[in-house]
Amino acid sequence: MVTRLLEPLETLTICEANWNDFDAILNLLNTVDNEFVPPLAESENLRVKITRILNDRRRGWIKAVDGERMVGVVAVIYHYRRPQLGLIETLAVLPESRRHGIGKKLVQFAMSKLFQNGMDSLLITTWETNKAALAMYEKLGFKMIMRKKVDNSYFKLFFMHSFEEPARSWSSFSRFWNRR
Ligand SMILES: CC(C)(COP(=O)(O)OP(=O)(O)OC[C@H]1O[C@@H](n2cnc3c(N)ncnc32)[C@H](O)[C@@H]1OP(=O)(O)O)[C@@H](O)C(=O)NCCC(=O)NCCS
Repeated sequence: MVTRLLEPLETLTICEANWNDFDAILNLLNTVDNEFVPPLAESENLRVKITRILNDRRRGWIKAVDGERMVGVVAVIYHYRRPQLGLIETLAVLPESRRHGIGKKLVQFAMSKLFQNGMDSLLITTWETNKAALAMYEKLGFKMIMRKKVDNSYFKLFFMHSFEEPARSWSSFSRFWNRR
């Protein structure tokens, strides 16, 4: 078992998920739900969330499969709140499959899908104490553009990656966000 975990994941496949993956996505999100701040299921039933994303042509799930097993997932949204802005959300890798580069590959795949579909910039968020996600976003070239207190309990950080121009400044992004 230890040897298996130390070996590179040569059997890993990253691709778009579909309705056949519903149960595997649900199992994976149930496994990691309590690691999210706040837990995903607090704001929306997980079955409803998975269905909503599968049903919407402006959204999609991307999965990482090691052999037969789904080990990671992430969701993308095209034209999020404004044309050509992409959002990457709900990134999760099974605890026993972490630190093998799967999370990074999922985000890179999501970035390339968003770029191929005409997005000019991407948004991704996390909570301030999520050291793993913060380190990964920085490695992938995302720039922090806003820090916002949510529900008077935790800080949410917003990161932007632009394919064309330098990332929008904090103030212009803040104005854009607060208009909505
Ligand atoms: C965040 C998460 C998706 C990372 O997945 P992963 O497959 O382990 O990440 P990777 O192996 O691709 O790591 C890529 C880089 O991220 C950083 N990183 C990942 N995990 C880390 C950790 N525990 N501590 C510090 N840095 C970490 C490192 O810089 C790493 O590169 P390195 O291994 O070359 O040092 C995973 O920890 C997870 O599912 N966490 C729970 C849910 C969550 O926090 N989702 C993100 C919500 S926004």
